Amino acid sequence: MPIKLAVLVSGRGSNLEAILDAITRGELDAVVQLVLSNNPEAPACDIARRFGVPCEVVANAGLSRTEHEEILLRRLSTVPIDYVVLAGYMRILTSNFLRHFADPAGFYRVINIHPSLLPAFPGKSAYADAFEHGVRVSGITVHLVDDLVDHGPILAQQAFPRLENDSLESFQCRGLEIEHRLYPAVLQQIAREGVRLLPVASRVGVAQR
Ligand code: GRF
Repeated sequence: MPIKLAVLVSGRGSNLEAILDAITRGELDAVVQLVLSNNPEAPACDIARRFGVPCEVVANAGLSRTEHEEILLRRLSTVPIDYVVLAGYMRILTSNFLRHFADPAGFYRVINIHPSLLPAFPGKSAYADAFEHGVRVSGITVHLVDDLVDHGPILAQQAFPRLENDSLESFQCRGLEIEHRLYPAVLQQIAREGVRLLPVASRVGVAQR
């Protein structure tokens, strides 16, 4: 049975495209039931439609976070969904939203990709932050979302070097290529065997947003 995904986007949509391409090529046993964008101008919506996937805009302008999330939740409740996949979704999800996707195993069925080796460089400009910090090695993280920002159990990480002659653009370009392979691969692993986490000494309690 393919896993059923809802993908939340805000912008360019290159990770959404990589996921849909992998499904089309038969490399990812998943169905994207629905794409939701908070940004009416997001190119990601055109990508979804090109693949025949419904994309709806739920603009957040003028709405409180709670009001916006309630509309998202209402829309998400109309289709069966195994996992919510964040692909460049630029808004923080509250604990109230996340608990609708609580898995009995003790995590939220919400997945994110972040362009750094978390817990280093959380936030919106991770490529630039890592580059400007002068890191020799950075990477990509796919993780389960928890109640903190760019935080939660790590599903996969892949490192890449910052080369001597890298510009921010070339550094980012190399990272993005990894994102486009890693995200579909992690989702396929989840499709095959569910969520697999490495044991850690303690999974720390998390504060409410
Ligand atoms: C990616 O770098 C992703 O890791 C980060 O936001 C960016 C989204 O890019 N969370 P795209 O919209 O998937 O092209």
